[in-house]
Amino acid sequence: MRIIFTDTYKKMSEEAAKIIAGQLWIKPNSVLGLATGSTPVELYQNLVWLYKTVGLDFSQATSFNLDEYVGLAEDDPQSYHRFMHENLFDHVNIRKDHVFFPNGLAADSVAEGERYEAAITAAGGIDMQLLGIGRNAHIGFNEPANAFTRMTHKVALKESTIAANARFFASQDDVPREAMSMGIGTIFRARHIVLLASGAEKAEAVRDAVMGAITPTVPASILQLHPSVTLIVDQEAGTLL
Ligand code: GLP
Repeated sequence: MRIIFTDTYKKMSEEAAKIIAGQLWIKPNSVLGLATGSTPVELYQNLVWLYKTVGLDFSQATSFNLDEYVGLAEDDPQSYHRFMHENLFDHVNIRKDHVFFPNGLAADSVAEGERYEAAITAAGGIDMQLLGIGRNAHIGFNEPANAFTRMTHKVALKESTIAANARFFASQDDVPREAMSMGIGTIFRARHIVLLASGAEKAEAVRDAVMGAITPTVPASILQLHPSVTLIVDQEAGTLL
């Protein structure tokens, strides 16, 4: 694992933008795996800026998002679908038929997981997967568990994750209790992984993921075994490394 230590969230976001932009320059038809949450917001702003100023080209790119809440329609203001359009897709030249999400309204979650996996495979697999990390070291919505999940699947969110994500909703009661998420296996099959962590509340998760035992109770710890991971931390998230 390569670790890039930066001082601030701003610097972390710039380093991440360089890597994603570099991937697109080298391979314009890259398949990107993208993430939501507050951590990648400034990275996405940087990518939009690069698109507008130097013509970073998304026209041949494809994206698959990590996860989506169960029960939220695509146009729900809190859906990850909306988040990605507002923060990135509506501002760059990515084709709208090249962006994919798990369907949070699917009646059959097993079939939906299979559909999503098949779409990723048909696109040629994920070239570069962007990840944030939860305070309990979850990636995507893969919560601490007894086993690593292999495929896109439906998950029950932990109370701590619901509480952490409540800031995006009117109240904690409004946070969906379930999500569709890429599995740990789906993430692991990406050719390159870029993991971002910002803020003191992520420091323990980062330490456990990077230096602790490889265990499904620390979902991000599996990344120690991946051949191409770049972790970018700001000063606060990296204090325990
Ligand atoms: C959610 C998302 C994750 C994200 C995590 C951390 O649970 N499913 O993909 O990494 O939140 O979010 P934040 O970046 O806001 O701390």
